[in-house]
Amino acid sequence: MRSFLIDTDTASDDAVAIMMALAAPDVWVLALTTVAGNVGLEQATSNALLTAEICGSDVPVFAGAGRPLIRALQDAHWFHGYDGLGDHGYPAPKRRHEREHAIDAIVRLAHAEPGLTLVTLGPLTNIALALARDPEIAAKIGRCVVMGGAPCEGNVTPAAEFNIWVDPEAARAVFRSRLKIEMVGWHVSRGASVLSDEEIAAIEALGTAKAHFAIQSNSRAREAYHTQTGEIGLSLADPTAMAVALDRTVGLSWSRHRIAIETQSELTRGMTVVDRLNVSADANNAEVWDAAAGEHEAAHIVWTIDSGRFKTMLKAALAA
Ligand code: BDR
Ligand code: CA
Repeated sequence: MRSFLIDTDTASDDAVAIMMALAAPDVWVLALTTVAGNVGLEQATSNALLTAEICGSDVPVFAGAGRPLIRALQDAHWFHGYDGLGDHGYPAPKRRHEREHAIDAIVRLAHAEPGLTLVTLGPLTNIALALARDPEIAAKIGRCVVMGGAPCEGNVTPAAEFNIWVDPEAARAVFRSRLKIEMVGWHVSRGASVLSDEEIAAIEALGTAKAHFAIQSNSRAREAYHTQTGEIGLSLADPTAMAVALDRTVGLSWSRHRIAIETQSELTRGMTVVDRLNVSADANNAEVWDAAAGEHEAAHIVWTIDSGRFKTMLKAALAA
C-alpha cells in the first residue's frame, strides 16, 4: 500500500479529490490536514469530515493554519459558495477533528512513514510551517504533488493561481525547500479535462451518494467557471492533481525547471515563474534567482494530462 497525506482547504473540488484517494484500492490515506483557503479553517475542517463520512471513512482529520503566514485570508466564496460546497445546506459532520495540530501531525507522519506521498490541494501554509518546524521532513517525503501554480495564465489574477496567490510567502518557502515537488498547475484542469454536460449527467446517473455529492457541491463552481472562462462544464483542479498523484503516467508531458514565487509585486503576486529555458543560473540572473528560488534543485512540471484517463478514474471512484 502507498501512504498518502492530503493537505486541503476543503471546498467542492477538494472533496472530489479526497473521494478519489479514499477509493483507490492501493492507497492508504493516513490523514487529511486542513488549512484556510477557499473557506475559513473551521469550515474546511467540517467539509473534510463530511466528505470522509460520505465515503464511509474514518480517516483522521487534523486542523492546521487559520490564515496565511503574513497576510489576511482572502477566500474563494465567489467560486465555491460561502460554505465551499455550493451552499446546499449540508448537515454538520458526525465526527470531530483530532486534537493534534496539523503541523505536528505532518511532521510526525513524515517521520513515521518515510517515502509517503504528500498531496497539497490548498495554500501551502501548513507545509511551510511544518518545514520550518523540521526541515528534515523534506527528505523523508517521497513525492510532494502540488495542485497549484499557473505557468500559463492565472485564475485569480492574470499572473497567479489561487493556492499560490493566497499565501505566496508559504509557497516560496515550500518551493525553496528540498521537497521533491511535482507541480500540477491550473491549466491542466481546463480544455479537454472539463467535464461536459453529458459527462456530468453520466456521473449523476451512477446513483451513488458520492456521485450526487460530487456534482451537487460543485454547482456554484460550475457557474463561476463559466463566468470566468466562457467554457461550459465542470473544471476540477484538485481532482486532476489527485489523478497525477494516484498514477503519475496520467501526466503526459513533463519537464523539470527551477520555479520562483513572486511575493513583492501586487501586480504579479503569487506568480509561479518557471525557468523554462534554464537561464536562471546565467550571470545576469543568478543573484535574483538564488535569492528567490534558493537551492531547490527544480520541480517537475506537468504540462499536459491524459484527460480521458482522468475522467475514467474519476468516474470509477464515484461509482464505488
Ligand atoms: C485551486 O483553488 C481552489 O479554488 C481549488 O480548490 C483548487 O485547489 C484552483 O486554483
Ligand atoms: Ca483546494
